Amino acid sequence: MKQAEITKVKSLKGEIIPPPDKSISHRAVMFASIAKGRSIVRNFLRAEDPISTMNAFRSMGTEIEEKAGNALIIHGKGLHGIKEPFDVINCGNSGTTVRLISGILSGNPFFSVLTGDDSLKQRPMARVIAPLKDMGAEISARNGDKYLPMAINGRRLKAIDYKMPVASAQVKSCLILAGLYADGTTAITELQKSRDHTERMLRSMGANIEVDGLVIKVKGQAGQSELTPIDVTVPADFSSAAFFIAAALMVPNSEILIKDVCVNPTRTGMLDVVKNMGANVRIENIRDASGEPVADIYCKNSGSLKAVKISGDIMPSLIDEFPILCVLATQAEGVTEIRGAEELRVKESDRIKAMSVELKKLGVELEEYPDGISIKGKASLKGAVVESYHDHRIAMSLAIAALAAQGTTIINNSSCVDISFPGFFEELKRITS
Ligand code: S3P
Repeated sequence: MKQAEITKVKSLKGEIIPPPDKSISHRAVMFASIAKGRSIVRNFLRAEDPISTMNAFRSMGTEIEEKAGNALIIHGKGLHGIKEPFDVINCGNSGTTVRLISGILSGNPFFSVLTGDDSLKQRPMARVIAPLKDMGAEISARNGDKYLPMAINGRRLKAIDYKMPVASAQVKSCLILAGLYADGTTAITELQKSRDHTERMLRSMGANIEVDGLVIKVKGQAGQSELTPIDVTVPADFSSAAFFIAAALMVPNSEILIKDVCVNPTRTGMLDVVKNMGANVRIENIRDASGEPVADIYCKNSGSLKAVKISGDIMPSLIDEFPILCVLATQAEGVTEIRGAEELRVKESDRIKAMSVELKKLGVELEEYPDGISIKGKASLKGAVVESYHDHRIAMSLAIAALAAQGTTIINNSSCVDISFPGFFEELKRITS
């Protein structure tokens, strides 16, 4: 078991370019694999989750060349160009891989089986299986079609009009992809607006997708037209930048510039929150890169932060930032409350429970709710031995808490950071003193 040992630091200074965006890396590989022709994906995130996606498509016959500078050349053979995999597809820890791929496989006329690691095998799959079955897919899965492994017999699908019971970009994207293989126009109504990388990238490839508020309409194109290849440069991941934003706001005398970050508004809810907390954070040099807004984020420690209440429609835009926002709340003046966060219970770990248990070990007073947490701020953090639950975002959030804790913190099972941010601990060391 790998452990990370972290001690209190004096400040963070300098510049950092976080790793490439995980969500966009997954999508680029998937969509290029079902496009017709040669796509180039530059700055691909070479981390465990997107590699699971790459391996999945290779196992279905997609030729993917790996070039210098984390570039991929992907030779797509069209919407029906992938072929039956010889073996079970193992999606590892990656919910995005399994949920998005299930939409593609449902529309392809062959047999496939999807599985994953122990965490992924406990995460809910009925949320994609039920609507895919409504579209005519033949799917069965463990425990009454709830969990992996799941087996899919793909076929021509029919369009549906679907109101999503959960806010989830993975479910939405799964159904958009299935919609490409359906006869007619599939309409999906979101519960709350979630990340829209799928809509942006597929539209740029010629897919017929219309978005009107929470309603997304996808016209099936199987047998009619193919997706055109892409040439994209993946921007840095806001969810990885988030750890450094929080660190700079917690550690006195810090001043950092986080560069080339994707600031798609469906991802940056944390910026609105920290501004409400009184943080000195600025978005600079905003530009467009491959259809996504990209910018540099300047953060300067300004001393005091105020507690805030977080709930409602902002949740999907900061869904992956829940653990690090909990850490930030420990240093704010007052009690921070985060509600409407029940989805956090079914992420790579139960992130509400994980943060409640581990922050208490560091000396924080808090209360756990079924759908969130409240955290008493201005805590004097004390180093302790803490657990990552094999969850990358829990490990990295606890590492940031440790920067402000007296003494030494040991994080058990710390190698899970490789899921989204290989080299995280080295980068943290480089920018702190
Ligand atoms: C993701 C969507 C979110 C997020 C995950 C990545 C995506 O999951 O938590 O890390 O790439 O679409 P949900 O859609 O289940 O909320």
